[in-house]
This record gives sequence, structure tokens and C-alpha cells, in this order.
Amino acid sequence: MSRTEIQSPTGAPYAAILGIGSYRPDRLVPNSEVVEAIDSSDEWIQQRSGIKTRRWAGPEESVQMMSVEASRKALAHAGIDARQIDCVIVATVSHMLQTPAIATAIAHELGTDQAAAFDISAACAGFCHGVAMANDMVRGGSAGHVLVIGVERLTDILDLHDRGTAFIFADGAGAAVVGPSETPGIGPVVWGSDGEQFDLIRQREDWRDVIASGEPVMPHLTMQGNSVFRWASFAMAKIGQQTLDRAGISLDDLDVFVPHQANMRIIDAMARSMKLPAHVKIARDVADMGNTSAASVPLAFDRMIQEGEAKPGDTALLIAFGAGLAYAAQVVTVP
Ligand code: COA
Repeated sequence: MSRTEIQSPTGAPYAAILGIGSYRPDRLVPNSEVVEAIDSSDEWIQQRSGIKTRRWAGPEESVQMMSVEASRKALAHAGIDARQIDCVIVATVSHMLQTPAIATAIAHELGTDQAAAFDISAACAGFCHGVAMANDMVRGGSAGHVLVIGVERLTDILDLHDRGTAFIFADGAGAAVVGPSETPGIGPVVWGSDGEQFDLIRQREDWRDVIASGEPVMPHLTMQGNSVFRWASFAMAKIGQQTLDRAGISLDDLDVFVPHQANMRIIDAMARSMKLPAHVKIARDVADMGNTSAASVPLAFDRMIQEGEAKPGDTALLIAFGAGLAYAAQVVTVP
């Protein structure tokens, strides 16, 4: 009996980020406001984290609303109509329904007709995971254009009385359109996880424990900050270098560095360990925005583009890492 041959999908030769957009919540929250609920000070927070202010979403600024606003800007930047999007990937840990995926509602509101739509959970590393998947989908033929969104309303799961997390985490959204390109615009992803350190950043308990406790308290984020700090500062610089190597890029070729905006000291430590040359522009959005988890890389990247620090055609290294511990990095061409 002869085997029936199945057609294999074929995609574009290469993929690239074609456009970026972001949404920053209206309300700016200075350290002086955060310290009202924790035993801390503006000086301590700035010294240990580099954070001066952050933005916390208001009641109208939902995960869906912030995502749609960021996506519309990304589509406009890419010059792409929403109907050309075949797939919407939303990276988030703060959409409060486990099902259905918020990506489906976002796709519908944007008018993407029948796009595939799903959420991914890779915490602060989620956006770079999404870009890696979108790159493979466009080249593999399962989608023509993919919208990748990183969005968080972390204040919904933040314990404002916890001095280890209250000053760090914040809200916002960023989005990127990934589509076909005649030249390589997204390099190989370097990604992985270290589940042995699962407990370092996590929600305190799962919903069944909350119900069993009889106390309807949101399962808040907890973090062993010092251990995370050590891991991120050392291990992630090596991942950054591996990502450049796999893309065939030397430090001299690099123009822009967009690390996850976790803490200014981690950003500085990574830049030092990687021996980044002085000409490389480094994203430092954390000072104004705090740590917005999955939204932090596209928010910081978009800001650098808007402010002219990252120019179209420049070469940028994106690297994101967080709970899991999960990480992902790639070299991309600035749209
Ligand atoms: N305000 C004032 N003092 C604080 C404080 C706060 N919010 N939190 C802790 N402290 C105190 C501690 O009690 C301790 O005091 P002691 O020396 O008298 O015992 C001291 O500061 C040092 O505590 P430690 O936890 O070792 O602080 P740190 O230098 O590690 O800084 C973080 C804390 C959270 C800023 C830091 O660990 C960090 O940024 N980690 C990475 C977090 C991160 O980026 N996570 C996201 C990754 S996705």
C-alpha cells in the first residue's frame, strides 16, 4: 500500500519585527506613595533597584484594554491592517481568568477576524518566548503575520504591604507585529528554564488552598529577591553572550541592549559581565516604570525607538527572565 503524502507548510524565508507599540497606564506612582504601606524609603528603593516611579493601572485599564491600545500602535507602526494578523499570542500572568484565553477577546476587539489566539505563561520572559514562536510560525508557514503582546496588571496580585515586592512590580502593555522579511530580522532564540528554582518567584498559594483556607485573599506574588538577583546578574549575562554567538553577531555589531527591566543593578551587572562597549545603548525604563514582567521588554524597546535611541535597521539584543525560572533571548533588527 502506498503512503499518502501530506503537504508540508512553507513560510517566508525570514521573519522580522515590523512594528512595536506600547501602553503606559495614566497613574504615575512615586516611591513616596509606595513606602506609606511598607517599612522602606525612597532612598533605599532607588539605591537597591533604581526605581523612582512606576505606573499602576486604574479600574478602566484592564489587561484587554491596555493590550488593544498597544496593539493598535504596533499595527500602525508596521503599516499592517488587523485583518492581516493570523495569530495573536498574549504573554501574561495577570489575566485573572484561567479560561478562555484573553488573546481571543483581544483578537476580536482588534478585528482580526478568525485569527488563532492563545495565551502563554512564561512570566517576565513571556514576550521573548512569543517573539521566538512568531519567528518560527512565519518561517514555518503557520501564520503570515503574528501579533505578540506582553501585558501585565500585576497590581491585582501584588501585596502592597510586602516590602520585598510592593516597590518593584507594576502595570503596562507592549506589542510587536512579526511578519515576513527578505532578510533575517530575528536571530535564533536561546531559551530555557530552571524548575529547581520554581519557588523563588511565585504566587504564594494556588486557588484551591485559598478556598480551603476560608479566607478570600488573593494569592499574592512572593519573591526571594536576593537569590533572584544573584541568578539574574550572573547566569543571564552568559545567555546574552550565547545569543549573540548564535546570531553570528559580535559586541561591536550590537547597537542596542534591551534586557528585562527587573532592577537597574541587574541591568548594570549584566552590561558589565558582557563587557558591552560604550556605544551600545542600554534600556533603562525600569527607573520610571518599575518591573512590568511580560510587558517590560516591549515597553522599553518601544521607548528607545520613540526617543531615537534605537534606529530602524539597528541590531538589538532582547533578553528576558523571571519566574520559573524561565528565560529567552534573541537578536533582532530594530523596526
Ligand atoms: N525597604 C527597606 N529595607 C528593606 C526592604 C525594603 N523594601 N526590603 C528589604 N530590606 C532590608 C532587609 O531587611 C535587609 O536588612 P538587614 O541587612 O538589616 O537584614 C536589607 O534590606 C537587605 O535585604 P536583601 O533582601 O538582601 O536586599 P537586596 O539587596 O537583595 O535588595 C531587592 C532587595 C528586592 C531590591 C533585590 O534583591 C532585587 O532587586 N532582587 C531581584 C528582584 C527582581 O528583579 N525580581 C524580578 C526578576 S523577574
